[in-house]
Amino acid sequence: MRVLIVGSRGQLGVDLVKSFRDCQVTPYTSEDLDITDEASVQQQIAFAAPDLVLNAAAFTRVDECEREHIRAFSVNAIGPRNLALACKKWDAPLLHVSTNYVFDGFKGAPYDENDAARPLNAYGISKLAGEHYLQSLWEKVYIVRVSGLFGLTPSRMKGTNFVEAMLRLGSKGNPLRIVSDEALSPTYTVDAASVIRRLVETSQYGIYHVTNSGGCTWLEFAREIFDQAGMKVELQPVTASEYGAPARRPPDSRLANRKTAELGLGPLRPWQEALRDYLLQRRG
Ligand SMILES: NC(=O)c1ccc[n+]([C@@H]2O[C@H](COP(=O)([O-])OP(=O)(O)OC[C@H]3O[C@@H](n4cnc5c(N)ncnc54)[C@H](OP(=O)(O)O)[C@@H]3O)[C@@H](O)[C@H]2O)c1
Repeated sequence: MRVLIVGSRGQLGVDLVKSFRDCQVTPYTSEDLDITDEASVQQQIAFAAPDLVLNAAAFTRVDECEREHIRAFSVNAIGPRNLALACKKWDAPLLHVSTNYVFDGFKGAPYDENDAARPLNAYGISKLAGEHYLQSLWEKVYIVRVSGLFGLTPSRMKGTNFVEAMLRLGSKGNPLRIVSDEALSPTYTVDAASVIRRLVETSQYGIYHVTNSGGCTWLEFAREIFDQAGMKVELQPVTASEYGAPARRPPDSRLANRKTAELGLGPLRPWQEALRDYLLQRRG
């Protein structure tokens, strides 16, 4: 199987390339292919003639998306649109990665794939627009929503992930102010990539939530990181509004993985176990 992977040197992209190592993989960076350029997308897909396309590319800096909403839309919505049109032309299924930030976070329980999306920020709006384009343009599309990714390759756009940021800040010995009123489902990229590998074998197109089991607030996530790393760090809870990030975030965007479980592809191990594995792997 020929698999074209867009965003292949991103945090998730690197693990996707590894999970598909039994296939003939063409990994694309943004220098090889800018997904916002429709003509290049058509050309490259015609040239590579893939049996499957995976899109892990995105403009992922959530706060910057508020200011740079045109760029957010062009990478997160027009990019997937261009891929869907080219995939349709060549009859190649497309797996696209989306986000928990398509939800407003007021449900009070983990979101299931059928819950209505209502994003609060420009990043979430642009990612939801990408999902709408895909659903309206091409039938052979998997949309996989992930959340709170941590992977051994740092996020290309952020240069880090939450675990690494905590370990670095915690080692300085100062108290840390961490948001205590936003919940998520932290997800190890290795685990998400392995479900994606198996999902594409099913030909069961549609929307899927793929996260490690359970959920926590950022404060609980930080506490678990320091407990597992054996570090004593003073954590000061702050509300999201006290923290004052430019983009509003959903208060509780934990995801329930109902549909992958129905396919026998889940549930994934609890996020705490995945974190333990991550910390072991990063020590090499
Ligand atoms: N990080 C999270 O916590 C999180 C949470 C929920 C959902 N997600 C979603 O998960 C997916 C993967 O996120 P990630 O953290 O792995 O991202 P990342 O590390 O920031 O990587 C993003 C990738 O997108 C590529 N890219 C950006 N603009 C492009 C363009 N115009 N054309 C082609 N490629 C372009 C970059 O390519 P270069 O390497 O060439 O720069 C980069 O490799 C994204 O869809 C994101 O929205 C992430």
